[in-house]
Amino acid sequence: MNVLFVSSEVAPFSKTGGLGDVAASLPAALAELGHRVVVVTPRYGSIDPARHGLEWLPLSLDARGERCGLWMRRGGPGSPEVYFLEHDLFYGFRRAPYGEGGVDYPDNPARFAFLARAALDLPRALGMRPEVVHFNDWQSALGPWFLRAEHGDDPWLEGSRSVYTIHNLAYQGMFAKEFMDGLGLPWSVFRLDGGLEFHDQLNFMKAGLSFADALTTVSPNYAREILTVEGGYGLDTVLRSRSGDLFGILNGIDEREWDPSRDPHLPARFDARDLRGKARVKAALQAELGLPVKSHVPLVGMVGRLADQKGMDLVAAALPALLRLDAQFVMLGSGQRDLQDFFSWVSGQRPDRFAARIGFDEGLAHRIEAGADTFLMPSRFEPCGLNQMYSLRYGTPPIARAVGGLADTVEDYDGWKRGTGFLFGPLDPGALVGAVQRALDVWRDVRAWRGIQARGMALDFSWGRSAERYEALFRGLAGN
Ligand code: ADP
Ligand code: GLC
Repeated sequence: MNVLFVSSEVAPFSKTGGLGDVAASLPAALAELGHRVVVVTPRYGSIDPARHGLEWLPLSLDARGERCGLWMRRGGPGSPEVYFLEHDLFYGFRRAPYGEGGVDYPDNPARFAFLARAALDLPRALGMRPEVVHFNDWQSALGPWFLRAEHGDDPWLEGSRSVYTIHNLAYQGMFAKEFMDGLGLPWSVFRLDGGLEFHDQLNFMKAGLSFADALTTVSPNYAREILTVEGGYGLDTVLRSRSGDLFGILNGIDEREWDPSRDPHLPARFDARDLRGKARVKAALQAELGLPVKSHVPLVGMVGRLADQKGMDLVAAALPALLRLDAQFVMLGSGQRDLQDFFSWVSGQRPDRFAARIGFDEGLAHRIEAGADTFLMPSRFEPCGLNQMYSLRYGTPPIARAVGGLADTVEDYDGWKRGTGFLFGPLDPGALVGAVQRALDVWRDVRAWRGIQARGMALDFSWGRSAERYEALFRGLAGN
């Protein structure tokens, strides 16, 4: 099959979270199954074509009269071609995907409407006929509507089916309805029922939910949660009306990028048979962070966006109790200003116990996954979550809230011979502290801990099986 995959971020070129990882590894896994997968994404100012060996193409795309140029990363066996849209909307004076200094770019509606439209002109420019066009998250969610409304007589997209994946229902792309005209959207589609309206606003995600031929989300449990009033973010009614077309397919991880036995970001390597290198990574990490280098003090790691979703406010509320435990903590993240300031301040007050690093640091993320003893992920909600899978693979049992994809991937330790981590339910600081306490107690029982580590490290989170589920869905849609 030919698949056109549209995403606002693709690692390693651009990444603000898990979408970037998935947009890199799912297309690669589909290409490995023998499909031609063409990925299209913006060329942001932060993407240096020379550094990534991109080629400039003598082609240009047209999005409703607006033209743009193209860079390409050549594909190979099992690796997809990636096309980058070169346009002032993405490049010019800005560097980041969505905004800078905590403020979104005000023209994001125009920027991402452009992404979806230009992507749909790529098949013509490349002379390809995609069976499936796969859109992701709010940024490309207008795509399924454009495919229907603007490509009715397009020979290149004749018979193309659309798939829309929800990576996070909490970010819907909501804008004032006055944007409709500028985006070239007809008012007839500004309606509640099967349209783009949401509380008198324009909602990009609703276009994906209403007009895609099939919907997916990134874990089976989240697929159930979003059908409820609590988990549906106001879109549960729309989702329930399409529940027959909605599939929960668990994300995989890139097992080459996240492999403790050959991770270039680590000062020592290890695997399930020989964990000695893990102890060396921990010592080096403690030194790097200015924490006392002590093997007998457990180190709890955290990496993630400092946002409500990740339950970081819960961590803040629990900190007085956590700091009374005989443990060290490291947190790497960026996001909400109040949380950044709070954690930095605590880090200054208790440098012997709590190390906060504010920013985005790929290498440090790997070292925390590898060097910490346990990984804390107290998410309020979590569509899938990748970090807990990385930590399982790195012998760093997660402590997580039993929601979304976390509940699908972490099995609670039963105090005996089952389980890969520590789950808790209630959204309150006491429950979080209780779970951390429980994990640290078990940590001191070396045999029990080794068992938990071994079971986690033996799990298979490769993309293979998940990619086959996407493949089956695509085949069903394409009728072949
Ligand atoms: P989400 O997409 O909701 O942010 P995921 O767990 O799916 O959560 O994916 C987050 C990805 O981003 C992971 O690869 C994680 O390691 C990475 N990440 C998040 N914050 C940082 C950071 N501050 N520095 C480095 N990597 C980060
Ligand atoms: C979103 C979700 C996260 C998921 C990622 C990739 O950002 O918050 O849970 O793992 O997308 O699908």
